[in-house]
Amino acid sequence: MLEDLQIRPYLEKDKQGVVALWREAFPNSPPWNIPEDHIERKLKVQRELFFIAEVTGKIVGTAMAGYDGHRGWVYSVAVSQKYRKQGIGKALMERVERGLIDIGCPKLNLQVRASNNEVVEFYKRLGYGVEDRVSMGKLLPGDKRSN
Ligand SMILES: CC(C)(COP(=O)(O)OP(=O)(O)OC[C@H]1O[C@@H](n2cnc3c(N)ncnc32)[C@H](O)[C@@H]1OP(=O)(O)O)[C@@H](O)C(=O)NCCC(=O)NCCS
Repeated sequence: MLEDLQIRPYLEKDKQGVVALWREAFPNSPPWNIPEDHIERKLKVQRELFFIAEVTGKIVGTAMAGYDGHRGWVYSVAVSQKYRKQGIGKALMERVERGLIDIGCPKLNLQVRASNNEVVEFYKRLGYGVEDRVSMGKLLPGDKRSN
């Protein structure tokens, strides 16, 4: 693991760096996924579960989570290409898990796009299993696609 790696909560000054990282790490993100909107919404709900990985002042990774009283969910797990396979993703996930355990969350879920199957191995290494579930969703009025 990198010696000067720091995992810490998101601060307002991180916005530009996070947007740049997500554009690099999620190049196929659909146009309605606007990074600035994600950040703004997360800052209103459990913002303490939004983590940044920083190496010598540079933002190199993110992970955000939420707990709804039943399950925890993790989103936006990303590490800058140049810094991958050095344990940063794992460190971010461990920090997220610790944050959720601290508030009594008993189980953590996550979704992986079918087109991003290779990342499944990353989560398996961290103890996650593929579960037999059908993933469903519905757009609510706040979603840009429903307008
Ligand atoms: C997935 C991602 C966050 C992993 O970050 P990372 O910093 O490279 O991961 P780590 O170095 O902490 O890897 C932890 C373990 O997973 C393994 N691993 C990581 N990426 C892997 C991959 N693509 N395929 C197989 N194994 C992988 C590592 O070898 C390591 O295994 P070990 O503990 O046995 O040595 C990074 O590849 C990424 O940002 N991908 C693009 C964005 C993305 O798809 N995010 C997930 C959305 S669901």
